[in-house]
Amino acid sequence: MNIQLTYYQRIGSENLQELVSRFYEEIKQDEVLKPMYPGDLEAAERRLYLFLVQYLGGPATYSERRGGHPRLRMRHQLFPIDQDARDRWLKCMSTAWKIRLWMMNHASFCGHILSIQPIFYAINRPAISNRL
Ligand code: HEM
Repeated sequence: MNIQLTYYQRIGSENLQELVSRFYEEIKQDEVLKPMYPGDLEAAERRLYLFLVQYLGGPATYSERRGGHPRLRMRHQLFPIDQDARDRWLKCMSTAWKIRLWMMNHASFCGHILSIQPIFYAINRPAISNRL
């Protein structure tokens, strides 16, 4: 019998939670990204965690709580995301992985998530050369 496990099942919620928590530790230290998250970081962490759970094939709690389709492009319009911010976001995420040594154990997951659509459409501002 060939049972296909979802990415969510293969990674497990505890690992995913740890990844998101480490990701936000990185965000807190980033001078460009940190000011974009003025609200409750714990709530933001929960939202990203629930989104990833759903995106990776787990329960759809994110959509139940956030009213249907994630509409991430629309939700990100509030924030000035240029190429630099996108690169910083990816760096935070990949650092979080490295800390967990996931690059070794979950290489296919890493490849998958780095290719996900939101990263490419999240840029909504031209490059800011003179950031004040
Ligand atoms: C490209 C760089 C990105 C930047 C700078 C960025 C920044 C932000 C910021 C400032 C928020 C608001 C925090 C909150 O209160 O929830 C947010 C929310 C969120 N982001 Fe991103 N983000 C980026 C890419 C992504 C990507 C690639 C994903 C998907 C994997 C993602 C998923 C989310 C989710 C699920 C939320 C919560 C939306 C909600 O339910 O309100 N973001 N992001």
